[in-house]
Amino acid sequence: MRIDILTVFPDYFAPLDLSLVGKARKDHIFEVHVHDLRHWGVGAHKQVDDTPYGGGPGMVMSADVWGTALDSIQRVDAPLVHKPLLVIPTPSGIVFNQSTAADWTAQGHLVFACGRYEGIDSRVAVHYSDHPDWAGVSEISLGDYVLAGGEVAVLAMIEAVTRLMPGVLGNPGSAVDDSFSIPGGLVEGSVFTKPPLWRDLEVPAPLLSGNHALIAQWRAADSARRTSINRPDLMGDSPQV
Ligand code: ADE
Repeated sequence: MRIDILTVFPDYFAPLDLSLVGKARKDHIFEVHVHDLRHWGVGAHKQVDDTPYGGGPGMVMSADVWGTALDSIQRVDAPLVHKPLLVIPTPSGIVFNQSTAADWTAQGHLVFACGRYEGIDSRVAVHYSDHPDWAGVSEISLGDYVLAGGEVAVLAMIEAVTRLMPGVLGNPGSAVDDSFSIPGGLVEGSVFTKPPLWRDLEVPAPLLSGNHALIAQWRAADSARRTSINRPDLMGDSPQV
């Protein structure tokens, strides 16, 4: 997979050199290219935004700057068989979740367009949704809160997607037990390691029993208990614990 990120703050993406994602890049499991949007900015100040039509506070990022930048990214990658999916992080988008992450692992090319200020001129999303050289556009929100820009959302999404790619996690089984990994799934239960007694708190006896059926039963009950407390919206019709 190839990932391109367009941003006015390329330094935000330094963490992509670290940890699992950094190692997977070195192992060529996927590649990431970060581009400074100002490269396509206009005039002496490399301006990327302008005042909003209809008035109002703040600035809107120009369709023209984004269009030139995105066209050149697509052309760089033109010999690739995969059409790029354009991802525009915005609090007005569809909420990102584990199944979005799993779906995107099948894409050959993701292009993330990080908006700042009041966002990107809405004609950009319309134009690339219908473009024959692109796989479409996803306007995606990280959740019901407003960030200063798309960069932090993109870091989170890239980590969620790439850790599901074969070879990224040291133990592929780790992703199987993740919270939300089954559709309609629950959150993961509590976890413990040595020592068995820490500050008067004991590890639950079933986990020390060596009895696999008992352990599985305890984990299922604990996951239901945590879900009902922290995420009652996920409980569906299952009995509340
Ligand atoms: N940009 C600003 N807020 C955002 C959010 N909640 N999700 C994605 N991108 C954003």
